[in-house]
Amino acid sequence: MRLWARATAVRRRVLCLWLLLLGFALVTLALSDLLNRDRDHSRQKPVPPLRPLQRIPNAPDLEVIVDSRDPALELGVDLAPLKSLQEDQLLFVPSTQDSKNPPQKKGSYKVLLPGANKDTRPPAHLTHGEMGKAVRIHLEGMERDMELSAVQKYGFNEMVSERISLHRRLPEARHPECLGGQYSESLPSASVVICFHDEAWSTLLRTVHSVLDTAPKPHLQEVLLVDDLSQHGHLKSVLSEYVSHLDAVRLIRSTKRLGVGGCRTLGAARAAGEVLVFMDSHCECQKGWLEPLLERVAQDRTRVVSPIIDVIDWQTFQFNATQWPVRGVFDWRLNFYWESNPQLQDKESDSAVRPVQSPALGGGVLAIDRHFFQSVGAYDPGMLLWGVEQIELSIRVWSCGGSMEVVPCSRVAHLDHHHLPYHFSDQELLQRNKIWIADTWMDAYRKIFYRRDTLAHFIRQSESPNNTERLQLKKSLGCRNFHWYLSTVYPQLYIPQDRPALSGELYNVGTGSCADYPRGQGLRGGAMNVAPCSGTGSQHCDLNSEFEVRCDPMGALCLDAKGEMVVLSPCPIHRPPTSRFQWKFIKLSGQLVHQQSQLCLEVVKEGGLPQSSPKKVNTHARTGGLFLRPCTHHPRQQWHFEQLVSPKDA
Ligand SMILES: *[C@@H]1O[C@H](CO)[C@@H](O)[C@H](O)[C@H]1NC(C)=O
Ligand SMILES: *[C@@H]1O[C@H](CO)[C@@H](O)[C@H](O)[C@H]1NC(C)=O
Repeated sequence: MRLWARATAVRRRVLCLWLLLLGFALVTLALSDLLNRDRDHSRQKPVPPLRPLQRIPNAPDLEVIVDSRDPALELGVDLAPLKSLQEDQLLFVPSTQDSKNPPQKKGSYKVLLPGANKDTRPPAHLTHGEMGKAVRIHLEGMERDMELSAVQKYGFNEMVSERISLHRRLPEARHPECLGGQYSESLPSASVVICFHDEAWSTLLRTVHSVLDTAPKPHLQEVLLVDDLSQHGHLKSVLSEYVSHLDAVRLIRSTKRLGVGGCRTLGAARAAGEVLVFMDSHCECQKGWLEPLLERVAQDRTRVVSPIIDVIDWQTFQFNATQWPVRGVFDWRLNFYWESNPQLQDKESDSAVRPVQSPALGGGVLAIDRHFFQSVGAYDPGMLLWGVEQIELSIRVWSCGGSMEVVPCSRVAHLDHHHLPYHFSDQELLQRNKIWIADTWMDAYRKIFYRRDTLAHFIRQSESPNNTERLQLKKSLGCRNFHWYLSTVYPQLYIPQDRPALSGELYNVGTGSCADYPRGQGLRGGAMNVAPCSGTGSQHCDLNSEFEVRCDPMGALCLDAKGEMVVLSPCPIHRPPTSRFQWKFIKLSGQLVHQQSQLCLEVVKEGGLPQSSPKKVNTHARTGGLFLRPCTHHPRQQWHFEQLVSPKDA
């Protein structure tokens, strides 16, 4: 039995009595809220500007931030009971039960009673995910069932996490040259802002202790825990109680779901340190991680820096060091990646400890000067709840006078989730955020994105986001355009040509399916295959003027042949490419001819495959492999490029 669990039980019993008394008040409050609430919370509406926040007085170890438009304030209700209600999970929460028909439900609210939030529905991701299948096969018996439900609840194996000390020390992963590093006494102070929403107890507290155990006291102004409207019981009064015993840790609660960006902006507004360190709520810091970050920011206040993000495994909680050099990038579908061993221009001897500039940084851990953060526009309030806000911030920081880099002597490990443990009522959340980035920052290059994400394209056709304010900000800050960003900051990103009739889904006449590429292999590529045409833009290929066919959203992998097997390989650096990577498309016959072998691209059905072919790739969707065969007029050698988004549309 855990101490904090017992503490809750006792506290609950005491609170029971006055809770009953409060019952009436609560129900009245609930009804008035339901009656008065503006029903139209539609996402199509222009996004309101950040609203002023008010602080409630007389909360010793706890601040409760209440939105000035909070229904309780509008009703003129005394706020003291509201704070207590929140502490003990009597909350007004947006109803997220029904994710299938969100539009009608958005304005509705329900009252949550203690214990009423034990929602253990398996998340959709797990039932569909292949990893989920693997978990189910591996886990047997009672305890295994509990582990499985812990995985479902949090997206990682929380039972393993519970058994690990909140003070565990990570194995040393820094380069030996980092260890003797002397840092100035006069480094700026840091406020570590940790936002959380329904985080597990062990991972949240391990994050907090890890910061307290590793950050030098003189440089650590405070740790700001910001609760983004969590529902889980352990994050209520038990957490407040626990935090009240920790030095330099403050807890802030939002009464509204803010999402990653909004929550961090809120934390930033409360922070007193000179440098903000945004950190996810499931991290573990390596000794000496803070000083190198502060030093880099102190040298140049427009520099935004990240440690090397090592990986904690979601099943075993094992630590896995990330290879240096590494930097953050994104592809034309606006997905973020850490790119290991990038082809960097400078290969000098001390590069093992020298920071590397990075076109983008992940959201896991980020240090930024507080004033620079505010002046560059904080996190964009137009971005919804979760997803790609790190890409938006990255493009903005670079374009508007700042820079980004990864600092190798600083390392923080981040728990990789198997899936996101909660649902969003808006299924197209990610697309909407990407549309926001495309329309605000990408100028004409946004067409390249829309061709590769047709869902975003169709959403964009039916609704246009009002990003007037951000465009004004961009103008007033004198930010550079996306062409500058691509050519100066991220010249390694291939810019697709997407010529009509020579780009799009590569449709095979004989099978009625589309050429598809191996996913999850990073930039290693793998055997090509055909799969049902997705229509989403995920199978977009681009035959360029140098006769390469590039099919991945990064445009870094080229159609290539290994013997008779057709594969996707890293594109050659030398220009023009050798004939091994060149393909000629004969429009009349639909043949794609490999220039080196003069053989044609053909779909070979499953069963007719040679023994050596990899069987594991995409078995559920795959309907055949791609091979080189002597050219014939067989329909399985006939192809055409289907453009899903017409050029003038995008
Ligand atoms: C660590 O990461 C490497 C590279 O990503 C991977 O190949 C390896 O399997 C990982 N090891 C563990 C124990 O997770
Ligand atoms: C867009 O937002 C700006 C300010 O946020 C507002 O002035 C303008 O009227 C809005 N435009 C539309 C079409 O809603």
